[in-house]
Amino acid sequence: MGKIPRLDGERKLTGFWVIGNWKMHGRLQVCKDLAYQMLAMTSQCPDPLHVAVAPALVHLDVVGSILKNSAILLAAQQASAHVDGAFTGQCSAAMLADLGVQLVLVGHSECRADLEQKDDVLRAQMQRIAEQGMSVVLCLGEDLAAHEAGQTVSVIDRQLDILRDWVDWSRLLVAYEPVWSIGTGKVANPEHIAAIHGHIHQRLQDLGDAGQVVPVLYGGSVKPALMPQLLALSSVNGVLVGGASLDADQFGQICKAVVDWPHVERA
Ligand code: 13P
Repeated sequence: MGKIPRLDGERKLTGFWVIGNWKMHGRLQVCKDLAYQMLAMTSQCPDPLHVAVAPALVHLDVVGSILKNSAILLAAQQASAHVDGAFTGQCSAAMLADLGVQLVLVGHSECRADLEQKDDVLRAQMQRIAEQGMSVVLCLGEDLAAHEAGQTVSVIDRQLDILRDWVDWSRLLVAYEPVWSIGTGKVANPEHIAAIHGHIHQRLQDLGDAGQVVPVLYGGSVKPALMPQLLALSSVNGVLVGGASLDADQFGQICKAVVDWPHVERA
């Protein structure tokens, strides 16, 4: 895709992302039905809304053909750190690009934990994704122990170190997803979200002048009812939605909340 939509110089919100992460849910027919429902609900994604969905790898092709020519972007849940070759079970960034994928998640806490992906692997994945002209959605966040120990900022700083040599700022989004909030129904309070998002924006700017254009999304038990609180925070530039993205009605309500929100500046 072209460059991702920018924030303006004063970091006012000129766009708001809603990305659905379908994880490993649903069989083929369920995902096809969901894609058609989303297409009907969000056939128009007027500015400032930018919508994407990330189906499982094996469903990318079919969901991509349903969403083709729509305003909904196709996202993948991960890409290999390798360019090509004898890597059984993996899928290269080039293969994803062939399917029309435009955004790829990197470092989701479920991948960090389950697949034991470390920073060098994540850095290589980001490189492969950028080489193919796709955008990276870098996921980060603290676990419950770190949260309770008041170590959120140091965990985030360590995870952001991965961007030290990053140059392709216009192809990057960051998603702050507190691990303890994912799939638990526990939502971080607005003060915490505002403080951490503000910190991430500042760190991105410190890492590179262009870092200030990087959208920072919130993820973790996002439901339609939470949207007014999130939309009221100018440092939140979008949401990464798990469970609620599996229900077209809820996903549609989340998108509608963005379109209806009076304080979002139209791009
Ligand atoms: P839930 O919205 O189900 O908490 O999942 C969040 C998430 O992990 C999105 O990537």
